[in-house]
Amino acid sequence: MARARQQRFWNRIAARYAARPLKNPAAYEAMLQAVAARLTPEQRVLELGCGTGGTAIRLAPGVAEWVATDFAAGMLDIARAKPGAAAVRFVLTDAQAAFDGGPYDIICAFNVLHLVDDLQGLLRAAHDALQPGGLLITKTWCFADLPWQMRWLFTLLRWVGLFPVARMLDGVGLRQAIQAAGFAIVEERVFGEYPQNPYLVAWKTGA
Ligand SMILES: C[S@@+](CC[C@H](N)C(=O)[O-])C[C@H]1O[C@@H](n2cnc3c(N)ncnc32)[C@H](O)[C@@H]1O
Repeated sequence: MARARQQRFWNRIAARYAARPLKNPAAYEAMLQAVAARLTPEQRVLELGCGTGGTAIRLAPGVAEWVATDFAAGMLDIARAKPGAAAVRFVLTDAQAAFDGGPYDIICAFNVLHLVDDLQGLLRAAHDALQPGGLLITKTWCFADLPWQMRWLFTLLRWVGLFPVARMLDGVGLRQAIQAAGFAIVEERVFGEYPQNPYLVAWKTGA
């Protein structure tokens, strides 16, 4: 997945992405509550692929520091202009290079793991950047598990530039990749109508 092309895509659609109403506000609120239940005031949190920052701005007041990162400047410009943005440290960086300021207590990656070039490398880097016992909290599209009609639709949308280049992950492969990086999955839930977009919490085992 050519990084520059991906960045152009997200910068181009940033305003449209921000203006799009949430598909399922109740499911989003339930997910925020699930994440909030894992947070404590002394924690440092790193978020990868934060987009226009809505999740970061809602959850940052519950922790000591929330560093929200994205490689699309257009997304971060919108995030920084939102009310409450001052509680978040927004950083422009590729997810693969986002770990310098560690260690973190929690790393969040919502709807982004299917978009990165080197998923296994990213998961290993996230593991290294966490404190012992730290958590990786993810929600990830597993497109390979969707019905073929939807996969076709997304392929068409990609051809016309309305959909990003994305990895054809499946749920089994995603879980295996997380475990292979040294995590134990401790919570699995689905918020909303798509089991192909699972919410997983994974615990950094060992040292
Ligand atoms: C589908 S949006 C998700 C945004 C937000 N996390 C959410 O759940 O609404 C994907 C976001 O990941 C960012 N992104 C994609 N690939 C990335 C990468 N390699 N490094 C950093 N950010 C990336 C995009 O710019 C975009 O903001």
